[in-house]
Amino acid sequence: MKACTIIAVFLALCSQSRAATQAQNLTRAAAVAPSPSAAAANTSAPPAILTDVPTNCTLVASSSVASGGRRLQASGSGSSHYIPLSSEVVHWGYFYGAEEPAAVVVSGDEITVEMATQHAGDDYDKMVRGDPAMEDVYNWTFNQINVPFRGRTGHGDGVHVLTGPIYMCGAEPGDVLQVDIIDLVPRVNPSTGKTYGSNAAASWGYQFRAGFLDGVKREVITIYEIIRDASNKLLYAVPDYQFRYNDPANGYVGPVTPCTEVYGQMPNSAVNYEWNNYGRTYRGNTPVPCVNNTQTWTSYLYPGIITTHPTTTEDYSIRGKFKVPINFHIGNMGVASAYPQTVDSVPPAIHGGNVDDRRIGKGATMYYPVQVPGALLSLGDTHTSQGDSEFDGTAIETSTTATLKLTLHKKGSMPQKISKLNFPLLENSNEYVVHGFTYNDYLKELDNPSTNIYKKSTLDRTFTVAYNNTRDFIMNAFNLTEDQAITAITVAMDFGVDQVVDGNWGVHCIVPKWMFNMSDMTPYSPLVMPGTSKPANMTLQTTL
Ligand SMILES: *[C@@H]1O[C@H](CO)[C@@H](O)[C@H](O)[C@H]1NC(C)=O
Ligand SMILES: *[C@@H]1O[C@H](CO)[C@@H](O)[C@H](O)[C@H]1NC(C)=O
Ligand SMILES: *[C@@H]1O[C@H](CO)[C@@H](O)[C@H](O)[C@H]1NC(C)=O
Ligand SMILES: *[C@@H]1O[C@H](CO)[C@@H](O)[C@H](O)[C@H]1NC(C)=O
Ligand SMILES: *[C@@H]1O[C@H](CO)[C@@H](O)[C@H](O)[C@H]1NC(C)=O
Ligand SMILES: *[C@@H]1O[C@H](CO)[C@@H](O)[C@H](O)[C@H]1NC(C)=O
Ligand SMILES: *[C@@H]1O[C@H](CO)[C@@H](O)[C@H](O)[C@H]1NC(C)=O
Ligand SMILES: *[C@@H]1O[C@H](CO)[C@@H](O)[C@H](O)[C@H]1NC(C)=O
Ligand SMILES: *[C@@H]1O[C@H](CO)[C@@H](O)[C@H](O)[C@H]1NC(C)=O
Repeated sequence: MKACTIIAVFLALCSQSRAATQAQNLTRAAAVAPSPSAAAANTSAPPAILTDVPTNCTLVASSSVASGGRRLQASGSGSSHYIPLSSEVVHWGYFYGAEEPAAVVVSGDEITVEMATQHAGDDYDKMVRGDPAMEDVYNWTFNQINVPFRGRTGHGDGVHVLTGPIYMCGAEPGDVLQVDIIDLVPRVNPSTGKTYGSNAAASWGYQFRAGFLDGVKREVITIYEIIRDASNKLLYAVPDYQFRYNDPANGYVGPVTPCTEVYGQMPNSAVNYEWNNYGRTYRGNTPVPCVNNTQTWTSYLYPGIITTHPTTTEDYSIRGKFKVPINFHIGNMGVASAYPQTVDSVPPAIHGGNVDDRRIGKGATMYYPVQVPGALLSLGDTHTSQGDSEFDGTAIETSTTATLKLTLHKKGSMPQKISKLNFPLLENSNEYVVHGFTYNDYLKELDNPSTNIYKKSTLDRTFTVAYNNTRDFIMNAFNLTEDQAITAITVAMDFGVDQVVDGNWGVHCIVPKWMFNMSDMTPYSPLVMPGTSKPANMTLQTTL
């Protein structure tokens, strides 16, 4: 699709969005352009990125904007903030440099952020019903959808329910935003006292490339339950049951939604495309028709659909066969892209986003190169567990609440190790984790990036980029020459695949900090917990 087409679609979709109260000071920063969730009366202007920073963010955060800005929902005072989940504080399926903030912070603040998984509709009774905030986010009736704009163009081309953005006072392009993950706690459904998650073996999973034993392509959902002991300590996750999408033999074609107009159109899958050159033709490319006032979805095509699968399709034979180590992490966290339009939430890039590295958990620190004024950090797509590669398309997708500490490093006065980042860097007590994607910044490197990135990913190129990023990072951080870096990488560092399912694929390299601390004479103990890269004796689990 050409850029002008995208803009035309975008503006058409935005033209009926609700008017927002716009606060005067932050307006300069946050409301320059029409945004999917904010007022967009000006249909002649293309979306633009932020160009200005509020002059006195402390003032803004504490008074005027906090009371006048529709999306400034954070409660709390001083240096501690809380963003409770609601349809008002999420943006669904995209990052956007002109999204109105849900909270404003200054460097050093802590913030607690509630997040909803985009897969809760896979079992509405277990993951949505009885939880008012989840019901609010998922509300989709004949007459309304509480979060109507889903995806980059509003057509489901982007899937993650992201809470935010969080505006960091004084952040400008060239700075680095440090995010310390202080805690991750799974969301408990108050009506059941339990936590469930969903693993969708979906059409974008690698199994669709590898092939199925019986040749039958299918999408399969597995619902998992998180198990606790009597003292509320989290133990592990167990599979509860499975069901297939598009399973007419068992009387289930797929979920059915009411035909609900969203900005004058039916939700559809018209922007789906072939994701690669491997002859995969499973994913349809046709709009889902409205028949008898309903749309029937034969594939996992649109975010937030409530599956409505009959219990007769539920296969419980998986129960009791295995258990899964818990490794809570944030699949999708990042700052807004400098791309001057909405950006699909699926492919990760220099701004972070859907990195899907299972190491982005409690105790980890992420460093993101700031792309737009205010940084605009958003997060969601939280996972109970995932193996490296996220093979079948998703993790155990689970609504979770994060507590973060946010620190701003200004260009020119930041630690050497982060002074040249062109990727999101992870640090934990043991190691740095360097991330490389097929394209570090596909939005700049590719023509028609949002379409083409899905066709261009290869592990070969991703591995090369991960190597290049690691080489450049350790040369800069530890004053190595290229030849010194090559041998250090080779003899001591592990590469691994983060994901092969997010359009812009990801490979990481683990850099042990111990190597470069020449005053540390203790032996290196590389003991790890299964499912994590943390030392086996570290506390990983959180009590509910
Ligand atoms: C609409 O956008 C144009 C181009 O950016 C701008 O010049 C004009 O002032 C805007 N009008 C309104 C009413 O915001
Ligand atoms: C913001 O303004 C207040 C009141 O004038 C002042 O005390 C404070 O230092 C200012 N903060 C910044 C970050 O400029
Ligand atoms: C915007 O900030 C200025 C000072 O920076 C202040 O005088 C003014 O009252 C603020 N406007 C609003 C609407 O709060
Ligand atoms: C959805 O929203 C409508 C309108 O606000 C409300 O009447 C309805 O009860 C909501 N349904 C759910 C399940 O939250
Ligand atoms: C529409 O619904 C009516 C009444 O339930 C039914 O008779 C008819 O077959 C349906 N049409 C289609 C195309 O499903
Ligand atoms: C990796 O780095 C080398 C040396 O700078 C460069 O020539 C090559 O293009 C880079 N590869 C990729 C995929 O960025
Ligand atoms: C970097 O390493 C070189 C030798 O490879 C050395 O000459 C130089 O002093 C070092 N620079 C710093 C800042 O340590
Ligand atoms: C290096 O190791 C020593 C000894 O364990 C420790 O005291 C020091 O904090 C470490 N330095 C860094 C930069 O981690
Ligand atoms: C883990 O074990 C190592 C080596 O025995 C020890 O140095 C470290 O303090 C332990 N860490 C924790 C959190 O117990």
